[in-house]
Amino acid sequence: MDATSRFGQFVTSHPEWAETTHLDALRASQYARLDAQNQVYLDYTGGGLHAASQLREHTDMLDSMVLGNPHSLSPSSMDMTRRVEQARAAVLDHFNAAGDYTAIFTLNASGALKLVGEAYPFAAGGHFLLSADNHNSVNGIREFAAAKGADVAYAPLTRPDLRLDMPAMRALLAQAGGATPATPGLMAFPAQSNFSGVKHPLSLIEEAQAQGWHVLLDAAAYVPTNPLDLRAVRPEFVVMSFYKMFGYPTGVGCLLVRNDALPLLRRPWFGGGTVNFATVQGRMHVLSSGEAGFEDGTLNYLSIPAVEVGLRHMQSVGVEAIQTRVRCLTAWIIAQLMALRHSNGRPMVRLYGPTDMAMRGGTVTMNFYDPNGHLVDYRRVEELAGEARISLRTGCFCNPGAGESAEDLSADDMRAGIDAAGAAINLQRFMQVMQERGGKSAGAIRISTGIASTFADVERFLEFVGGFRDQTALTIGTVSFDIESCRVVREGS
Ligand SMILES: Cc1ncc(COP(=O)(O)O)c(C=O)c1O
Repeated sequence: MDATSRFGQFVTSHPEWAETTHLDALRASQYARLDAQNQVYLDYTGGGLHAASQLREHTDMLDSMVLGNPHSLSPSSMDMTRRVEQARAAVLDHFNAAGDYTAIFTLNASGALKLVGEAYPFAAGGHFLLSADNHNSVNGIREFAAAKGADVAYAPLTRPDLRLDMPAMRALLAQAGGATPATPGLMAFPAQSNFSGVKHPLSLIEEAQAQGWHVLLDAAAYVPTNPLDLRAVRPEFVVMSFYKMFGYPTGVGCLLVRNDALPLLRRPWFGGGTVNFATVQGRMHVLSSGEAGFEDGTLNYLSIPAVEVGLRHMQSVGVEAIQTRVRCLTAWIIAQLMALRHSNGRPMVRLYGPTDMAMRGGTVTMNFYDPNGHLVDYRRVEELAGEARISLRTGCFCNPGAGESAEDLSADDMRAGIDAAGAAINLQRFMQVMQERGGKSAGAIRISTGIASTFADVERFLEFVGGFRDQTALTIGTVSFDIESCRVVREGS
């Protein structure tokens, strides 16, 4: 089928695409560098792209103002303080959180997560409950919890959809009658998986809170393509990185804390900017109230106004339009990938996570298999994609729990791999062991669409992967895997 007919088929199956055509014009005017360099960008879950106008507006501001370190009374400082506070108000407005939440600027989502982890009142008898699907910066909070004697538990995922196993999650939430002020419990999950694109149910927030839990919502992979209304769902803590939403600036993230939950957090230290008073001789300090008590040292103050610019850009495009566009493209990608077959009829692609569009976002993770059912080396796919000027991502995306669930890797599998791969983890050896233990893969290939994605981008990717048809040259698999039954095919069976 030629390109025009394919596009015709696409718009017929996704008529709502018509609501997003202003994004094609935006791509041509604001993201022209992609086409000028013949690049296809498919890593929006890794980082968003900025519009040319965002940079211009920000640099015009820097050029036209004299801006100094905020929080003093000089004109340059007061101007800077005003711009930082304006950005803070814009963040709260964007999430419909003004008056209810405090916005704490951090370096990134990880910085925001660490603030919660180190300051949450974990205690012996208390709990940290998290989904197996989580970024490592959420997984890492288990170290703070365990160090303070709290119980750490993971809620498993279902296979092959990689959704939360809700009965198991509910049983864990109900453990010991829920969480109490004396034995506090923090429950953490991502609104959208950075591995599978699954959108976990936000209704879980209220369910957990009804049983005494505090909820930490990792919104980093969700907010770039979905609206989040913090009057509709009210987690105690929400984290995000702004570069994922609109590409620029990097180095600024945010922790949103519900105001009534702010007194729960007890900072384990103080530093410049976080105290109203500190004495060396008297060995005491008084922490600043509100966000100031959490913003260590000097803020990335020149970059923070670019957050307001980025939010305005996103709002002018329309978060719903971005969401619709990403949904249409993702549905098309999935349908096309699932239809790819070698000449012998065997499927070429194994998708991880949902293959329908219910409760899923624009992140699609996969591995390729050759005509004999042998795994294709995802590292070689990345290299070849790079040669074709396509940016995608491979590995485990800092989300080991989702990857292990996707491949049904058990603690035994992981121990065997770790033992064989040695303390420094020889990845080649590790991958071999995973193959030997049932054709499992230690990593995958991830693509994701966003604000500047076009149908042509997606078609370039599909054409690229079509080139793996009948190829055996990129194989690393040592066993033959049947994608449809998810089983290793033994010789002669
Ligand atoms: C779901 C999720 N949470 C947290 C993070 C961490 O973000 P950052 O690296 O900006 O701290 C990421 C980054 O990929 C993510 O996708």
